[in-house]
Amino acid sequence: MSVLPATPATLAAAATALRAGRLVAFPTETVYGLGADATNALAVARIFQAKGRPRFNPLIVHVARATAAWHLGASTALARRLADAFWPGPLTLVLRRTQDTPIADLATAGLDTIAVRCPAHHIAQALIDAAGCPLAAPSANRSGRVSPTRAADVAADLGDRVDIVLDGGPCAIGLESTVIDVSGATPILLRPGGVTRQAVEEVVGALRIATVGPERPTSPGQLASHYAPRAQVVLGLKGLQPGDAVLAFGPSPPRGPGEGPLINLSPAGDLVEAAARLYTALRELDATGAPVIRVAPIPGSGLGEAILDRLARAAAPR
Ligand code: TXA
Ligand code: MG
Repeated sequence: MSVLPATPATLAAAATALRAGRLVAFPTETVYGLGADATNALAVARIFQAKGRPRFNPLIVHVARATAAWHLGASTALARRLADAFWPGPLTLVLRRTQDTPIADLATAGLDTIAVRCPAHHIAQALIDAAGCPLAAPSANRSGRVSPTRAADVAADLGDRVDIVLDGGPCAIGLESTVIDVSGATPILLRPGGVTRQAVEEVVGALRIATVGPERPTSPGQLASHYAPRAQVVLGLKGLQPGDAVLAFGPSPPRGPGEGPLINLSPAGDLVEAAARLYTALRELDATGAPVIRVAPIPGSGLGEAILDRLARAAAPR
């Protein structure tokens, strides 16, 4: 595995590797993706192998421009409205697969729908253009672990399971894309993420919330463990012990410095800042060796919905 700063030469080398069926991790504005040629079944299979990901969990296919998306999945008025409003950006649309879609069945886990995203990050766009194919790319972490927001996170988690890591610095948003199913008449929120629900609802009206699905179990007790550090994550500060790590938020942290590891996601109480710091903070608190990470209350409005979604999964029983 080599970690390379993104330059015209390394982008060209990464594109060549992708066309040869290799895996390249690359930055997006949300998190780092583990990319492969989405039209090459063998390359896509390598993604599942590298992540240890269950094969029934489909991947997001990344395109450089919205027009490329409509070759892969059916464009509807609803899909176009969302694409016009949020692409390029942190939004994934689940579309009906087109009859002649060139995407490997494995990438969509045999479903008749396909998840497509047009990322805003200039390195992601340049890589897709240089490769000349859509890129299947889940977050570049082992299945179930914390998603990577820096090239070094990818290297530490995946090691030689990835061929090239393109380094584009830290991800600006720091949380995965919002996933919306627009394959039917009404849009369904499958995963809260970098575009807030309010912003989406301003464009298409009220969203239905999926009650079942890979990211939406029927009750909180069934939450699949995901985005999880090694330490136990506990929501709320009740029962705080001296050795516990604390993930704080807002101007009045629950305890002072020196009483154990504490990271404040945003002393100013800014949810955008908190989202950008969330995964790095979980990694850093985990690295202290504290057995438990306790999470202070965080408001659920705006990006808070996605932050709380990820923290609930990190806290789910394993
Ligand atoms: O921000 C992101 O979305 C990042 C970057 C790299 O683009 N990618 C990412 O991929 O988070 P991943 O594989 O970790 O999450 C993809 C999500 C999963 O929840 C998966 O179940 C859902 O999208 N998904 C993919 N295809 C789907 C489909 N056809 N129908 C419903 N859900 C789908
Ligand atoms: Mg992921």
